[in-house]
Amino acid sequence: YVLGIDLGTSSLKGLLMTERGDVVGEASAAYPILTPQTGLSEQEPDQWLEAAKKVITALIQTTPDMTTQLQGISFSGQMHSLVVLDENKQSIRPAILWNDVRTSKQCREITEKAGDLVLGLTKNIALEGFTLPKILWIQENEPENWEKVRYMMLPKDYLGFWLTGTFATDFSDAAGTLLLDIAKKEWAQPIFDTFDIPAERLPKLFESQDQIGVLTDDIKAMFGFEVDVPVFAGGADNACAAVGSGIIQDGAGMCSIGTSGVFLSFENDALADYQGKLHLFNHAAKGDYYSMGVTLAAGNSLDWFKNTFAADKSFPELLGGISELKPGADGLLFTPYIVGERTPHVDSQIRGSFIGIDTHHTLTHFAKAVLEGITFSLKDSQVMMETVAGRHFDRIVSVGGGAKNPDWLQMQADIFNATIVNLTVEQGPGLGAAMLAAIGAGWFDNAAEAAEVFVHYKDEFTPNPDHVAAYAKLYGLYTQVYGATKALS
Ligand code: XUL
Repeated sequence: YVLGIDLGTSSLKGLLMTERGDVVGEASAAYPILTPQTGLSEQEPDQWLEAAKKVITALIQTTPDMTTQLQGISFSGQMHSLVVLDENKQSIRPAILWNDVRTSKQCREITEKAGDLVLGLTKNIALEGFTLPKILWIQENEPENWEKVRYMMLPKDYLGFWLTGTFATDFSDAAGTLLLDIAKKEWAQPIFDTFDIPAERLPKLFESQDQIGVLTDDIKAMFGFEVDVPVFAGGADNACAAVGSGIIQDGAGMCSIGTSGVFLSFENDALADYQGKLHLFNHAAKGDYYSMGVTLAAGNSLDWFKNTFAADKSFPELLGGISELKPGADGLLFTPYIVGERTPHVDSQIRGSFIGIDTHHTLTHFAKAVLEGITFSLKDSQVMMETVAGRHFDRIVSVGGGAKNPDWLQMQADIFNATIVNLTVEQGPGLGAAMLAAIGAGWFDNAAEAAEVFVHYKDEFTPNPDHVAAYAKLYGLYTQVYGATKALS
Protein backbone atom coordinates (compact mmCIF):
# COMPACT_ATOMS: atom_id res chain seq x y z
CA TYR A 1 0.00 0.00 0.00
CA VAL A 2 0.80 3.69 -0.20
CA LEU A 3 -0.85 6.37 1.90
CA GLY A 4 -1.68 9.85 0.60
CA ILE A 5 -2.46 12.36 3.33
CA ASP A 6 -4.21 15.60 2.36
CA LEU A 7 -3.75 18.23 5.09
CA GLY A 8 -6.53 20.61 4.08
CA THR A 9 -7.97 23.79 5.56
CA SER A 10 -10.98 22.15 7.18
CA SER A 11 -9.85 18.55 7.63
CA LEU A 12 -7.09 16.00 7.16
CA LYS A 13 -7.93 13.10 4.86
CA GLY A 14 -6.11 9.83 4.25
CA LEU A 15 -6.31 7.71 1.11
CA LEU A 16 -4.83 4.21 1.24
CA MET A 17 -4.17 2.69 -2.19
CA THR A 18 -2.80 -0.47 -3.73
CA GLU A 19 -0.26 -0.95 -6.50
CA ARG A 20 -3.18 -1.47 -8.91
CA GLY A 21 -4.55 1.97 -8.12
CA ASP A 22 -7.48 0.74 -6.01
CA VAL A 23 -8.63 2.70 -2.98
CA VAL A 24 -8.72 0.32 0.01
CA GLY A 25 -9.19 2.81 2.81
CA GLU A 26 -10.41 6.36 3.39
CA ALA A 27 -10.63 8.31 6.64
CA SER A 28 -10.81 11.94 7.67
CA ALA A 29 -10.75 14.11 10.77
CA ALA A 30 -11.84 17.75 10.94
CA TYR A 31 -10.39 20.72 12.83
CA PRO A 32 -11.60 24.28 13.28
CA ILE A 33 -10.31 27.51 11.72
CA LEU A 34 -9.70 30.08 14.43
CA THR A 35 -10.86 33.59 13.54
CA PRO A 36 -10.00 35.78 16.54
CA GLN A 37 -10.95 38.83 14.42
CA THR A 38 -12.40 39.42 10.94
CA GLY A 39 -9.68 38.88 8.38
CA LEU A 40 -7.61 36.63 10.63
CA SER A 41 -7.48 32.90 10.01
CA GLU A 42 -5.35 30.59 12.15
CA GLN A 43 -4.97 26.96 13.13
CA GLU A 44 -3.11 25.14 15.92
CA PRO A 45 -0.50 22.94 14.18
CA ASP A 46 -0.89 20.29 16.87
CA GLN A 47 -4.50 19.82 15.80
CA TRP A 48 -3.21 18.61 12.43
CA LEU A 49 -1.11 16.01 14.26
CA GLU A 50 -4.12 14.92 16.34
CA ALA A 51 -6.12 14.58 13.12
CA ALA A 52 -3.30 12.57 11.51
CA LYS A 53 -3.25 10.21 14.53
CA LYS A 54 -7.01 9.64 14.20
CA VAL A 55 -6.82 9.07 10.45
CA ILE A 56 -3.87 6.66 10.56
CA THR A 57 -5.46 4.76 13.48
CA ALA A 58 -8.78 4.50 11.61
CA LEU A 59 -7.06 3.24 8.46
CA ILE A 60 -5.13 0.60 10.42
CA GLN A 61 -8.40 -0.52 12.01
CA THR A 62 -10.01 -1.15 8.62
CA THR A 63 -6.84 -2.46 6.92
CA PRO A 64 -4.72 -4.08 9.68
CA ASP A 65 -2.00 -5.40 7.34
CA MET A 66 -1.11 -1.77 6.65
CA THR A 67 1.33 -2.11 9.59
CA THR A 68 3.39 -4.62 7.61
CA GLN A 69 2.55 -3.69 4.01
CA LEU A 70 2.80 0.10 3.87
CA GLN A 71 5.53 1.07 1.41
CA GLY A 72 5.28 4.83 1.50
CA ILE A 73 3.53 7.93 2.82
CA SER A 74 3.32 11.31 1.13
CA PHE A 75 1.37 14.52 1.54
CA SER A 76 -0.71 17.19 -0.08
CA GLY A 77 -0.93 20.37 1.97
CA GLN A 78 -2.84 23.63 2.18
CA MET A 79 -0.48 26.16 0.60
CA HIS A 80 1.27 29.26 1.95
CA SER A 81 0.25 28.91 5.63
CA LEU A 82 3.08 29.75 8.04
CA VAL A 83 4.14 27.49 10.94
CA VAL A 84 6.78 28.84 13.34
CA LEU A 85 8.67 26.68 15.87
CA ASP A 86 11.21 27.48 18.61
CA GLU A 87 14.53 25.74 19.25
CA ASN A 88 12.71 22.92 21.05
CA LYS A 89 10.58 22.36 17.94
CA GLN A 90 7.50 23.65 19.74
CA SER A 91 4.96 25.81 17.95
CA ILE A 92 5.34 29.45 19.08
CA ARG A 93 1.94 30.75 17.95
CA PRO A 94 -0.95 29.41 15.86
CA ALA A 95 -0.19 28.95 12.15
CA ILE A 96 -1.29 31.94 10.03
CA LEU A 97 -3.33 30.46 7.20
CA TRP A 98 -3.39 31.16 3.47
CA ASN A 99 -6.83 32.81 3.70
CA ASP A 100 -5.77 35.24 6.43
CA VAL A 101 -5.66 38.79 5.05
CA ARG A 102 -3.90 40.77 7.82
CA THR A 103 -0.81 41.38 5.69
CA SER A 104 -1.88 44.12 3.20
CA LYS A 105 0.69 46.53 4.65
CA GLN A 106 3.50 43.97 4.33
CA CYS A 107 2.48 43.27 0.73
CA ARG A 108 2.77 46.97 -0.09
CA GLU A 109 6.18 47.07 1.60
CA ILE A 110 7.42 44.07 -0.40
CA THR A 111 6.19 45.59 -3.65
CA GLU A 112 7.70 49.02 -2.92
CA LYS A 113 11.03 47.75 -1.63
CA ALA A 114 11.67 44.77 -3.90
CA GLY A 115 8.73 44.25 -6.28
CA ASP A 116 10.91 43.63 -9.34
CA LEU A 117 13.35 41.37 -7.49
CA VAL A 118 10.52 39.24 -6.09
CA LEU A 119 8.69 39.00 -9.42
CA GLY A 120 11.93 38.21 -11.26
CA LEU A 121 12.95 35.33 -9.01
CA THR A 122 9.65 33.93 -7.78
CA LYS A 123 7.53 34.88 -10.86
CA ASN A 124 4.80 35.95 -8.45
CA ILE A 125 3.75 39.17 -6.75
CA ALA A 126 3.11 39.79 -3.07
CA LEU A 127 -0.41 38.78 -2.09
CA GLU A 128 -1.89 38.62 1.41
CA GLY A 129 -2.17 34.85 1.25
CA PHE A 130 1.51 34.12 0.52
CA THR A 131 4.05 33.21 3.21
CA LEU A 132 6.66 35.99 2.99
CA PRO A 133 4.18 38.74 4.01
CA LYS A 134 3.17 36.58 7.00
CA ILE A 135 6.83 36.27 8.08
CA LEU A 136 7.21 40.06 7.84
CA TRP A 137 4.01 40.52 9.84
CA ILE A 138 5.45 38.47 12.72
CA GLN A 139 8.77 40.37 12.47
CA GLU A 140 6.93 43.69 12.74
CA ASN A 141 4.12 42.90 15.13
CA GLU A 142 5.40 40.14 17.40
CA PRO A 143 9.14 40.81 17.91
CA GLU A 144 9.16 38.63 21.03
CA ASN A 145 7.92 35.69 18.92
CA TRP A 146 10.27 36.50 16.04
CA GLU A 147 13.19 36.27 18.49
CA LYS A 148 12.21 32.70 19.30
CA VAL A 149 11.71 31.44 15.73
CA ARG A 150 14.18 28.73 14.70
CA TYR A 151 12.10 26.77 12.17
CA MET A 152 9.59 28.12 9.63
CA MET A 153 7.63 25.74 7.46
CA LEU A 154 4.41 24.92 5.64
CA PRO A 155 1.63 22.76 7.14
CA LYS A 156 2.41 19.45 5.45
CA ASP A 157 6.09 19.89 6.33
CA TYR A 158 5.19 20.12 10.01
CA LEU A 159 3.50 16.75 9.68
CA GLY A 160 6.54 15.34 7.84
CA PHE A 161 8.83 16.77 10.57
CA TRP A 162 6.79 15.01 13.26
CA LEU A 163 6.72 11.71 11.38
CA THR A 164 10.41 11.60 10.38
CA GLY A 165 12.35 14.26 12.30
CA THR A 166 13.54 15.73 8.96
CA PHE A 167 13.15 19.47 8.35
CA ALA A 168 12.11 19.32 4.70
CA THR A 169 9.87 20.87 2.10
CA ASP A 170 9.33 20.38 -1.63
CA PHE A 171 9.58 22.78 -4.56
CA SER A 172 5.82 23.07 -5.23
CA ASP A 173 5.08 24.20 -1.66
CA ALA A 174 8.25 26.31 -1.39
CA ALA A 175 7.13 28.13 -4.56
CA GLY A 176 4.10 29.50 -2.67
CA THR A 177 6.27 31.19 -0.02
CA LEU A 178 7.55 33.97 -2.33
CA LEU A 179 11.04 32.96 -1.22
CA LEU A 180 11.95 30.44 -3.94
CA ASP A 181 13.82 31.09 -7.16
CA ILE A 182 11.41 28.89 -9.06
CA ALA A 183 13.52 28.52 -12.22
CA LYS A 184 16.78 27.65 -10.41
CA LYS A 185 14.92 25.69 -7.73
CA GLU A 186 16.83 27.15 -4.80
CA TRP A 187 15.96 29.51 -1.96
CA ALA A 188 16.19 33.08 -3.29
CA GLN A 189 19.03 34.45 -1.13
CA PRO A 190 18.62 38.08 -2.34
CA ILE A 191 15.05 38.08 -0.99
CA PHE A 192 16.20 36.68 2.36
CA ASP A 193 18.87 39.40 2.51
CA THR A 194 16.46 42.19 1.59
CA PHE A 195 14.06 41.27 4.38
CA ASP A 196 16.55 40.11 7.05
CA ILE A 197 15.36 36.53 7.14
CA PRO A 198 17.98 33.93 8.11
CA ALA A 199 17.78 31.33 5.33
CA GLU A 200 18.70 28.46 7.69
CA ARG A 201 15.30 28.84 9.33
CA LEU A 202 13.69 27.45 6.16
CA PRO A 203 13.68 23.71 5.38
CA LYS A 204 15.88 21.79 2.98
CA LEU A 205 14.36 21.52 -0.52
CA PHE A 206 13.35 18.20 -2.10
CA GLU A 207 11.51 17.00 -5.19
CA SER A 208 7.94 16.00 -4.23
CA GLN A 209 8.66 12.33 -4.89
CA ASP A 210 11.98 12.32 -2.96
CA GLN A 211 12.33 10.42 0.28
CA ILE A 212 12.81 12.75 3.25
CA GLY A 213 13.20 9.95 5.81
CA VAL A 214 11.43 7.02 7.47
CA LEU A 215 8.91 6.93 10.32
CA THR A 216 10.74 7.49 13.63
CA ASP A 217 10.84 4.66 16.17
CA ASP A 218 8.40 6.59 18.40
CA ILE A 219 5.88 6.94 15.58
CA LYS A 220 6.29 3.29 14.55
CA ALA A 221 5.62 2.24 18.14
CA MET A 222 2.65 4.63 18.47
CA PHE A 223 0.80 2.99 15.56
CA GLY A 224 2.33 -0.50 15.73
CA PHE A 225 4.13 -0.38 12.36
CA GLU A 226 6.32 -3.46 12.05
CA VAL A 227 8.32 -2.30 9.02
CA ASP A 228 10.29 0.82 8.19
CA VAL A 229 8.00 3.14 6.25
CA PRO A 230 9.63 5.63 3.86
CA VAL A 231 8.15 9.13 3.79
CA PHE A 232 8.24 11.26 0.62
CA ALA A 233 8.18 15.07 0.52
CA GLY A 234 4.75 15.55 -1.12
CA GLY A 235 3.42 18.79 -2.59
CA ALA A 236 1.14 21.81 -2.50
CA ASP A 237 -2.55 20.90 -2.66
CA ASN A 238 -3.13 22.44 -6.07
CA ALA A 239 -0.01 20.74 -7.47
CA CYS A 240 -1.14 17.41 -5.99
CA ALA A 241 -4.66 17.88 -7.35
CA ALA A 242 -3.03 18.46 -10.76
CA VAL A 243 -1.01 15.23 -10.43
CA GLY A 244 -4.14 13.37 -9.27
CA SER A 245 -6.07 14.77 -12.26
CA GLY A 246 -3.40 13.82 -14.78
CA ILE A 247 -2.41 17.44 -15.55
CA ILE A 248 1.10 16.46 -16.54
CA GLN A 249 1.40 17.40 -20.22
CA ASP A 250 0.92 20.40 -22.51
CA GLY A 251 -2.69 21.24 -23.26
CA ALA A 252 -4.00 19.88 -19.95
CA GLY A 253 -6.07 22.17 -17.73
CA MET A 254 -7.88 21.78 -14.43
CA CYS A 255 -10.87 23.60 -12.98
CA SER A 256 -11.22 23.10 -9.24
CA ILE A 257 -14.26 24.54 -7.53
CA GLY A 258 -14.37 24.38 -3.75
CA THR A 259 -14.84 27.35 -1.42
CA SER A 260 -12.50 29.17 -3.75
CA GLY A 261 -12.00 28.24 -7.39
CA VAL A 262 -8.83 27.53 -9.32
CA PHE A 263 -8.18 27.40 -13.05
CA LEU A 264 -4.84 25.68 -13.60
CA SER A 265 -2.67 25.02 -16.63
CA PHE A 266 0.28 22.68 -17.07
CA GLU A 267 3.49 24.59 -17.90
CA ASN A 268 6.65 22.96 -19.22
CA ASP A 269 8.96 25.63 -17.81
CA ALA A 270 8.98 28.85 -15.80
CA LEU A 271 9.14 31.09 -18.87
CA ALA A 272 5.51 32.24 -19.37
CA ASP A 273 5.42 36.01 -18.77
CA TYR A 274 2.27 36.41 -16.70
CA GLN A 275 3.73 39.37 -14.73
CA GLY A 276 2.27 37.96 -11.53
CA LYS A 277 -1.31 38.26 -12.81
CA LEU A 278 -1.47 34.48 -12.66
CA HIS A 279 0.51 32.44 -10.15
CA LEU A 280 3.36 30.40 -11.62
CA PHE A 281 4.63 27.60 -9.38
CA ASN A 282 6.76 24.45 -9.53
CA HIS A 283 4.68 21.34 -10.16
CA ALA A 284 4.73 18.24 -7.96
CA ALA A 285 5.54 16.32 -11.17
CA LYS A 286 9.33 16.48 -11.30
CA GLY A 287 10.77 19.28 -13.44
CA ASP A 288 7.40 20.71 -14.49
CA TYR A 289 5.47 23.87 -13.61
CA TYR A 290 1.88 25.07 -13.55
CA SER A 291 0.13 28.40 -13.71
CA MET A 292 -3.13 29.14 -12.02
CA GLY A 293 -5.68 31.83 -11.34
CA VAL A 294 -7.90 31.97 -8.27
CA THR A 295 -11.53 33.05 -7.85
CA LEU A 296 -11.81 33.80 -4.15
CA ALA A 297 -15.53 33.06 -3.80
CA ALA A 298 -16.47 30.20 -6.14
CA GLY A 299 -18.41 27.56 -4.16
CA ASN A 300 -18.60 30.25 -1.50
CA SER A 301 -20.76 32.42 -3.81
CA LEU A 302 -23.17 29.54 -4.37
CA ASP A 303 -23.26 28.72 -0.63
CA TRP A 304 -23.88 32.37 0.22
CA PHE A 305 -26.69 32.55 -2.34
CA LYS A 306 -28.36 29.37 -1.12
CA ASN A 307 -28.04 30.27 2.58
CA THR A 308 -29.40 33.76 2.00
CA PHE A 309 -32.22 33.12 -0.48
CA ALA A 310 -32.98 29.40 -0.50
CA ALA A 311 -31.90 27.99 2.87
CA ASP A 312 -34.87 25.62 2.90
CA LYS A 313 -33.86 23.97 -0.40
CA SER A 314 -31.28 21.29 -1.15
CA PHE A 315 -28.72 21.90 -3.91
CA PRO A 316 -30.55 19.52 -6.31
CA GLU A 317 -33.79 21.46 -5.65
CA LEU A 318 -32.12 24.83 -6.15
CA LEU A 319 -30.26 23.82 -9.32
CA GLY A 320 -32.84 21.38 -10.71
CA GLY A 321 -34.27 23.70 -13.40
CA ILE A 322 -31.16 25.45 -14.67
CA SER A 323 -30.64 23.34 -17.79
CA GLU A 324 -34.12 24.35 -19.02
CA LEU A 325 -33.06 27.99 -19.19
CA LYS A 326 -31.02 29.23 -22.13
CA PRO A 327 -27.41 30.37 -21.55
CA GLY A 328 -27.42 33.73 -19.85
CA ALA A 329 -30.31 33.22 -17.39
CA ASP A 330 -32.54 35.42 -19.60
CA GLY A 331 -30.43 38.54 -19.23
CA LEU A 332 -29.36 38.16 -15.61
CA LEU A 333 -25.62 38.49 -14.95
CA PHE A 334 -23.71 37.88 -11.68
CA THR A 335 -20.13 38.76 -10.71
CA PRO A 336 -18.80 36.60 -7.84
CA TYR A 337 -16.70 39.28 -6.14
CA ILE A 338 -18.48 38.89 -2.80
CA VAL A 339 -15.20 38.81 -0.81
CA GLY A 340 -13.10 40.71 -3.38
CA GLU A 341 -11.27 39.04 -6.26
CA ARG A 342 -7.78 37.64 -6.81
CA THR A 343 -7.43 36.80 -10.54
CA PRO A 344 -7.30 38.81 -12.73
CA HIS A 345 -8.08 41.97 -10.77
CA VAL A 346 -6.13 41.48 -7.48
CA ASP A 347 -8.69 43.71 -5.78
CA SER A 348 -9.75 43.07 -2.20
CA GLN A 349 -12.22 46.01 -2.26
CA ILE A 350 -14.41 45.09 -5.26
CA ARG A 351 -17.79 43.52 -4.47
CA GLY A 352 -20.20 41.41 -6.50
CA SER A 353 -23.33 42.33 -8.40
CA PHE A 354 -26.50 41.07 -10.09
CA ILE A 355 -27.22 43.03 -13.25
CA GLY A 356 -30.25 42.94 -15.56
CA ILE A 357 -32.92 41.87 -13.05
CA ASP A 358 -36.38 41.58 -14.67
CA THR A 359 -39.81 40.94 -13.15
CA HIS A 360 -40.03 37.49 -14.77
CA HIS A 361 -36.79 36.22 -13.17
CA THR A 362 -37.21 33.39 -10.68
CA LEU A 363 -34.93 31.83 -8.09
CA THR A 364 -33.75 29.42 -10.80
CA HIS A 365 -32.61 32.34 -12.99
CA PHE A 366 -30.60 33.72 -10.09
CA ALA A 367 -29.08 30.33 -9.30
CA LYS A 368 -28.07 29.84 -12.93
CA ALA A 369 -26.59 33.36 -13.07
CA VAL A 370 -24.50 32.56 -9.97
CA LEU A 371 -23.05 29.42 -11.59
CA GLU A 372 -22.38 31.31 -14.81
CA GLY A 373 -20.70 34.21 -12.99
CA ILE A 374 -18.39 31.84 -11.07
CA THR A 375 -17.47 30.05 -14.31
CA PHE A 376 -16.89 33.35 -16.20
CA SER A 377 -14.56 34.42 -13.43
CA LEU A 378 -12.50 31.24 -13.91
CA LYS A 379 -12.58 31.83 -17.66
CA ASP A 380 -10.73 35.10 -17.02
CA SER A 381 -7.73 32.98 -16.00
CA GLN A 382 -8.12 30.64 -18.99
CA VAL A 383 -8.20 33.62 -21.37
CA MET A 384 -5.01 35.03 -19.86
CA MET A 385 -3.23 31.69 -20.31
CA GLU A 386 -4.40 31.57 -23.93
CA THR A 387 -3.55 35.15 -24.83
CA VAL A 388 -0.33 35.69 -22.83
CA ALA A 389 1.24 32.25 -23.25
CA GLY A 390 -0.61 30.75 -26.22
CA ARG A 391 -1.99 27.84 -24.23
CA HIS A 392 -4.74 25.78 -25.78
CA PHE A 393 -6.82 23.40 -23.71
CA ASP A 394 -7.80 20.13 -25.38
CA ARG A 395 -9.32 18.83 -22.20
CA ILE A 396 -10.08 20.30 -18.80
CA VAL A 397 -10.46 18.10 -15.74
CA SER A 398 -13.09 19.42 -13.35
CA VAL A 399 -12.62 18.55 -9.67
CA GLY A 400 -14.16 19.50 -6.32
CA GLY A 401 -17.75 20.49 -5.57
CA GLY A 402 -18.15 22.02 -9.04
CA ALA A 403 -17.61 18.60 -10.62
CA LYS A 404 -20.65 17.03 -8.99
CA ASN A 405 -23.50 18.64 -10.93
CA PRO A 406 -23.79 17.49 -14.59
CA ASP A 407 -25.52 20.72 -15.65
CA TRP A 408 -22.67 22.78 -14.23
CA LEU A 409 -20.13 20.49 -15.95
CA GLN A 410 -21.92 21.05 -19.29
CA MET A 411 -21.89 24.79 -18.57
CA GLN A 412 -18.11 24.59 -17.99
CA ALA A 413 -17.70 22.82 -21.37
CA ASP A 414 -19.77 25.58 -23.04
CA ILE A 415 -18.06 28.52 -21.29
CA PHE A 416 -14.48 27.18 -21.51
CA ASN A 417 -15.21 25.82 -25.02
CA ALA A 418 -13.33 22.62 -24.21
CA THR A 419 -14.14 19.01 -23.37
CA ILE A 420 -14.67 18.62 -19.63
CA VAL A 421 -14.09 15.38 -17.73
CA ASN A 422 -14.42 14.51 -14.05
CA LEU A 423 -12.62 11.90 -11.93
CA THR A 424 -13.81 8.58 -10.51
CA VAL A 425 -12.44 9.49 -7.05
CA GLU A 426 -13.44 12.56 -5.05
CA GLN A 427 -10.09 13.17 -3.37
CA GLY A 428 -7.95 14.77 -6.12
CA PRO A 429 -5.17 16.14 -3.84
CA GLY A 430 -5.05 12.94 -1.72
CA LEU A 431 -4.82 10.87 -4.90
CA GLY A 432 -1.93 13.04 -6.10
CA ALA A 433 -0.18 12.54 -2.75
CA ALA A 434 -0.66 8.75 -2.97
CA MET A 435 0.80 8.84 -6.50
CA LEU A 436 3.86 10.73 -5.23
CA ALA A 437 4.36 8.02 -2.60
CA ALA A 438 3.93 5.34 -5.30
CA ILE A 439 6.59 7.00 -7.49
CA GLY A 440 8.87 7.44 -4.45
CA ALA A 441 8.39 3.79 -3.53
CA GLY A 442 9.58 2.81 -7.01
CA TRP A 443 6.25 1.48 -8.31
CA PHE A 444 6.44 3.95 -11.21
CA ASP A 445 9.19 6.01 -12.82
CA ASN A 446 7.23 9.23 -13.12
CA ALA A 447 3.82 10.92 -12.80
CA ALA A 448 2.76 9.95 -16.33
CA GLU A 449 3.29 6.25 -15.59
CA ALA A 450 1.53 6.56 -12.24
CA ALA A 451 -1.40 8.36 -13.89
CA GLU A 452 -1.99 5.44 -16.27
CA VAL A 453 -2.81 3.24 -13.30
CA PHE A 454 -4.18 5.72 -10.73
CA VAL A 455 -6.14 8.36 -12.70
CA HIS A 456 -9.50 7.44 -14.22
CA TYR A 457 -12.04 9.77 -15.77
CA LYS A 458 -15.75 9.22 -15.34
CA ASP A 459 -17.98 11.41 -17.52
CA GLU A 460 -17.22 13.55 -20.55
CA PHE A 461 -18.99 16.77 -21.54
CA THR A 462 -18.43 18.24 -25.00
CA PRO A 463 -19.18 21.87 -25.88
CA ASN A 464 -22.53 22.62 -27.54
CA PRO A 465 -21.66 25.04 -30.43
CA ASP A 466 -24.82 27.17 -29.97
CA HIS A 467 -24.14 27.56 -26.27
CA VAL A 468 -20.46 28.32 -26.91
CA ALA A 469 -21.45 31.20 -29.21
CA ALA A 470 -24.02 32.55 -26.74
CA TYR A 471 -21.57 32.36 -23.83
CA ALA A 472 -18.79 34.05 -25.82
CA LYS A 473 -21.11 37.07 -26.22
CA LEU A 474 -22.15 37.05 -22.57
CA TYR A 475 -18.55 36.74 -21.41
CA GLY A 476 -17.83 39.96 -23.32
CA LEU A 477 -20.51 41.67 -21.20
CA TYR A 478 -19.25 40.03 -18.00
CA THR A 479 -15.74 41.43 -18.50
CA GLN A 480 -17.16 44.98 -18.61
CA VAL A 481 -18.83 44.74 -15.21
CA TYR A 482 -15.65 44.93 -13.13
CA GLY A 483 -14.61 48.33 -14.47
CA ALA A 484 -18.17 49.63 -14.42
CA THR A 485 -18.76 48.68 -10.76
CA LYS A 486 -15.29 49.40 -9.35
CA ALA A 487 -16.17 52.94 -8.30
CA LEU A 488 -19.06 51.59 -6.21
CA SER A 489 -16.87 49.50 -3.91
C1 XUL B 1 -3.62 28.86 -3.67
C2 XUL B 1 -4.43 29.07 -2.43
C3 XUL B 1 -5.38 28.01 -2.05
C4 XUL B 1 -4.72 27.04 -1.13
C5 XUL B 1 -5.71 26.17 -0.43
O1 XUL B 1 -2.81 29.96 -3.98
O2 XUL B 1 -4.27 30.04 -1.75
O3 XUL B 1 -5.92 27.35 -3.15
O4 XUL B 1 -3.81 26.24 -1.84
O5 XUL B 1 -5.02 25.30 0.38
